[in-house]
Amino acid sequence: MSYSVEELINRAVKAREQAYMPYSGYAVGACVYTERGNYYSGCNIENASYGATNCAERTAIFKAVSEGERKIKAMAVVGGEQGRDITGYAYPCGVCRQVLREFGEPNDTIVYVGTDANNYRKFTLGELLPFSFNMDFKAM
Ligand code: THU
Repeated sequence: MSYSVEELINRAVKAREQAYMPYSGYAVGACVYTERGNYYSGCNIENASYGATNCAERTAIFKAVSEGERKIKAMAVVGGEQGRDITGYAYPCGVCRQVLREFGEPNDTIVYVGTDANNYRKFTLGELLPFSFNMDFKAM
């Protein structure tokens, strides 16, 4: 069983409609696909404290993990100014890359950053987060 890139990105675009971003006005949507064959999407959720803001990617990842998922095979991210067409690429922030690393594999987990299902860039997690810190530290 595998995912459709189009479906993954379309779900991220749809999730972006729920973005709660009264401070930045920047709306982000993400969707992950898990080893069990499920899609989970999420949006950014800002906070008046600013620091408590949650990115769209982590919302999607946490939704998956809280449903019992432990392996993420792919993730799509789309973002842009509220109320405008998406024209640029919203690359995942460093924190979200690290969180994805917890449930992904450098060579196997694929990240799509795009404007829509017809225009995207494709990376491995390892390209976005080389020499990553992960649970292997426990064996050192
Ligand atoms: N944001 C995300 O949702 N994902 C990222 O990878 C980068 C930033 C959100 C956080 C904040 O709500 C807004 O975009 C502007 O930083």
